[in-house]
Amino acid sequence: MKRLAAFVIFGSMAVGGAWAQSDAAVENAAAGAGKIITCAACHGQDGKSMSPLYPSIGGQNYRYLLSQMRAMKAHGQDPDALGNRSPGLMVGQLAVFSDQDLQDIAAHYANQTPHVGEAVEEKAIRGEAIYRGGILEKQVAACTACHSPRGAGNRPAGFPRLSGQTVDYTVQQLKAYREGERTTDEEYGGMMRQIAARLTDTEMEAVAQYLHGLH
Ligand code: HEC
Ligand code: HEC
Repeated sequence: MKRLAAFVIFGSMAVGGAWAQSDAAVENAAAGAGKIITCAACHGQDGKSMSPLYPSIGGQNYRYLLSQMRAMKAHGQDPDALGNRSPGLMVGQLAVFSDQDLQDIAAHYANQTPHVGEAVEEKAIRGEAIYRGGILEKQVAACTACHSPRGAGNRPAGFPRLSGQTVDYTVQQLKAYREGERTTDEEYGGMMRQIAARLTDTEMEAVAQYLHGLH
């Protein structure tokens, strides 16, 4: 019995270690924790958003976090370049950071536990159908294909986690893709712009509600 318990503990440590190793070195995360004083006002120290308008970023994957911060920082140099992202309310926040700082910050937030919200039931039912099955008649692909059945995303591919995200933020991002204002999916062939272009506001809200409560 003792040996079994030891094995279980060792096993879970090995898994935790593999997670941290494959995302980024543990030292980076520790360094990152000391660089997010201004960020925490909106995203929290652990990445849980302080307002429905700010995204929760705790437990988001490293590759995605880093790519978005680079894209928002690059926007300051060239706002019109495809792939750069308008920082919105975050304007000026990233300018002072080196790329090493961004890697450390990404490692810190990637190591946090993701958050879960509570969805409004009636809307979430329609949202679940879209998330799991897509919308056949409009050739909208099922979101699960890339964002995974539980909304955890795909770490090696850098597909973002969507589960637990605030509703307003998700809707705002889908609209930004639809209007072509957000082009960070350029490295993936514009796939999110194509998908969002086929969604109505009501469908976006339904899927955002479902995602808010998904875990
Ligand atoms: C005033 C509030 C505020 C502060 C301070 C702030 N952010 Fe943000 N952050 C936002 C908002 C709002 C967005 C969404 C931007 C948009 O697309 O309109 C965002 C987006 C992000 C994203 C992308 C999330 C995603 O899911 O794509 C990351 C990563 C991020 N912020 C990291 C940071 C870091 C690191 C700092 C500190 C250096 C910081 N933020 C400071 C409000 C803030
Ligand atoms: C073929 C793969 C694929 C499919 C299918 C897909 N997505 Fe995405 N999605 C991505 C990728 C890749 C990104 C990140 C692109 C970027 O960097 O802007 C993304 C980003 C997003 C974001 C922005 C996340 C954030 O934190 O800002 C939202 C919201 C989103 N997808 C929702 C959906 C919904 C809803 C569906 C189904 C209707 C869907 N996606 C289907 C690949 C996909």
